[in-house]
Amino acid sequence: MIVLKLGGSVISDKRRPYSLRTELLKEIGKVLKKKSGELVVVHGGGSFGHPKVRELLESGYSLKDKGYEVIRVMNEMTNRVTEALGDPFAPYSTPSMWAGELLVEPIREALKIGWIPVIQGNVVPPGKVVSGDELVVELAKKLGAEAVGLATDVEGVYRSWPPSGPPLREASPCSVELKGSEGIDVTGGMRKKLEELAKIAGEVKVYVFNGFKVENYATLLEGGEVGTRVVPC
Ligand SMILES: Nc1ncnc2c1ncn2[C@@H]1O[C@H](COP(=O)(O)OP(=O)(O)OP(=O)(O)O)[C@@H](O)[C@H]1O
Ligand SMILES: [Mg+2]
Repeated sequence: MIVLKLGGSVISDKRRPYSLRTELLKEIGKVLKKKSGELVVVHGGGSFGHPKVRELLESGYSLKDKGYEVIRVMNEMTNRVTEALGDPFAPYSTPSMWAGELLVEPIREALKIGWIPVIQGNVVPPGKVVSGDELVVELAKKLGAEAVGLATDVEGVYRSWPPSGPPLREASPCSVELKGSEGIDVTGGMRKKLEELAKIAGEVKVYVFNGFKVENYATLLEGGEVGTRVVPC
């Protein structure tokens, strides 16, 4: 079992609201479909969820008041993402599977018939954001994943940001000077990502890699090493 997060920074342009990289998604879909039945995909908020959350909060609304507006935008994004990924990617909505934690039975049912379920970082009751990074951790634990991949818009994790030199082979939240994100990221960018992933990095192989390079997905699915391996502190 492999859990893959398609970073919002890869599948959309975080500087352009509601943009989606459909051609890239088509190419990624062709590679990923080979693992149908053994792969779960999560995608991030990218240029859909992050600006919507910010807009609501800046207008003085809480996510308890109007979080459903984020859900509309994110579910729309997932529909478009799965259409671009192609067969057999199936859109699943995170809040529909949320009861204080992620209920994974619907995912198991989808896997059994060879679908590739796709969920998304989203808002859930009682009004909070669950990031794609957090969902990946929950899925990996509950489904017993062998490997977790985080596709993002950088080669891997760098010792400092902005980078000077190549990305690290291994990184823990303790070994790296971590900043958030260049784009809008209401869920903490790279710092929060590593902190979340370090929770499972002792048991599961976890990689942060460049999601623009389609060959990286093939390597990950074949059990190879890509980008930076995340390790515990
Ligand atoms: N030490 C670091 N190494 C690598 N990237 C870093 C580092 N510190 C901060 N960053 C930032 O983290 C960004 C990636 O995180 P970001 O949350 O923007 O992407 P994502 O998680 O793929 O997108 P989304 O949250 O929409 O799914 C990079 O583009 C970079 O700007
Ligand atoms: Mg992020």
